[in-house]
Amino acid sequence: MSKQDKIKQLIDLRTEAKLGGGIKKIESQHKKGKMTARERIEILLDEGSFEEYDMFVTHRCTNFGMDKKKVLGDGVVTGTGTIDGRVVFLYAQDFTVFGGSLSEPYARKICKVMDMAMKVGAPIIGINDSGGARIQEGVTSLAGYADIFQRNIMASGVVPQISAIFGPCAGGAVYSPALTDFIMMTENTSYMFVTGPKVVKTVTGEDITTEDLGGASIHASKSGVSHFLLEDEEEGLMMIRKLLSFLPQNNLEEAPVIECNDPIDRMDDALNEIIPENPNKPYDIKDVIYSLVDNSEFLEVHRNYAKNIVCGFAKFDGRSVGIVANQPSFLAGVLDIDASRKAARFVRFCDAFNVPILTLVDVPGFLPGSSQEYGGIITHGAKLMFAYGEATVPKVTITLRKSYGGAHDVMSSKQLRGDLNYAWPSAEIAVMGAQGAVEVLYGRELSEIEDPQKRAEFVAEKESDYKEKFANPYQAASLGYIDDVIEPRNSRFRIIRAFDMLQTKKDTNPPKKHSNIPL
Ligand code: HXC
Repeated sequence: MSKQDKIKQLIDLRTEAKLGGGIKKIESQHKKGKMTARERIEILLDEGSFEEYDMFVTHRCTNFGMDKKKVLGDGVVTGTGTIDGRVVFLYAQDFTVFGGSLSEPYARKICKVMDMAMKVGAPIIGINDSGGARIQEGVTSLAGYADIFQRNIMASGVVPQISAIFGPCAGGAVYSPALTDFIMMTENTSYMFVTGPKVVKTVTGEDITTEDLGGASIHASKSGVSHFLLEDEEEGLMMIRKLLSFLPQNNLEEAPVIECNDPIDRMDDALNEIIPENPNKPYDIKDVIYSLVDNSEFLEVHRNYAKNIVCGFAKFDGRSVGIVANQPSFLAGVLDIDASRKAARFVRFCDAFNVPILTLVDVPGFLPGSSQEYGGIITHGAKLMFAYGEATVPKVTITLRKSYGGAHDVMSSKQLRGDLNYAWPSAEIAVMGAQGAVEVLYGRELSEIEDPQKRAEFVAEKESDYKEKFANPYQAASLGYIDDVIEPRNSRFRIIRAFDMLQTKKDTNPPKKHSNIPL
């Protein structure tokens, strides 16, 4: 073969590999409203930055006539590229080749880029669209999955791992995304479940659609498996880029700092008015967040799940900060099982990747009731406390209004190594609210007053006494649990100055194999 022929052969092989399962399969993919693996990569990465590996890999299976069906690349596109100039490693499952099903060499391709990501210290992005284990391969395919799972586990807390689900992701295959830091799903075209509707029907008799069992909306709102719900793939790919802009490349680095054109001493008078006179009236904590952060830009994580707590990323003076905030406009901002799990995971992510945490507190307590107790609110609430107490990143806390009982301790209190704990003048820091406190403290007296009018007057007087004593931040401030009471409109400046000062903070935990967080 001449040199030119050899080069032509290479070009032909590349062209063949790039076609994946062929034109018909690509058309069928488009008809389902899905892009191909390569189209997704092109949108995700900086233009022209993709370096593909292993495009000539083929499977070695001979069962069921598979030896006559080989496709270059074998159903997954892997490689490296850049996002905003920063290196990432990625794999995109190619549904046009054997339904994107996973063979042993396919798993090796994925493991190779994961290993490289760990060596280089760069994020791993997995785009999932697959029928799962390649049935013709048998157990080698299962072993391939386990090889990936093990790498997901080792990479956890070392490099950020992001999973996009842009098609089917079923059976044990769901556990790779589940081991990663963030999952995004697209409406109508993606689903995840351990067992599909047919098996569910056979085993339990339940009739349920694919969408209702494991569609994007379900996982974004009910199960909390997915962190981002996107309308379509393009939005999902842009979300990956945006998310990475808040994150460092690995656990030894800091998130990128960008130039901030929003004045750091910008005051917002509206914040002085935002807390309603009536302590039982809600307001939207997101209005506070938008006012505080650079250019009102806030990337909310788990937007549709456990809305009583808000988590997400923002920048302060160009630096990434993770925000955790009780949401008074949903279930009064109470801490329940879902909210505790959601926030605990977020706090742990921030701590693992050196992202400082701002906590905005307005919490009436833990949600009472048998369903919460039976569901294990004790264990789940402890997760959030554990996450805060273990975190060594800079932690700034502002109490806006209520901070009652155990929830006060949990929400990044001074005693859980909060670095700077501020309060607004509207803060109420106490064991419980006035109504509950009076009922407990004066139960005997109240039972002896029969006249409803007199009873109401007695309650009002005692509640007023209680509020005067505790419905303010000054008892906590007098004990040093609150470092300063600040004017709401000046909060942005105080937060930025606090995080600035804390940049060189060093804190450690005692040496141990690992902690035993209440899972
Ligand atoms: C081999 C597969 C495959 C698989 C799909 N295909 N899944 N080939 N192994 N697991 C092939 C199909 O035969 C078909 O080939 C092509 O991919 C496209 O599939 P369709 O069925 O035509 O597509 P669609 O109608 O969109 O349905 C997609 C699907 C369905 C819902 C994913 O294919 C399906 O149910 N597949 C099986 C899913 C499954 O049970 N997987 C095993 C899960 S257990 P042709 O040649 O006709 O184009 C598992 C264990 C992991 O994954 C364990 C980890 C610990």
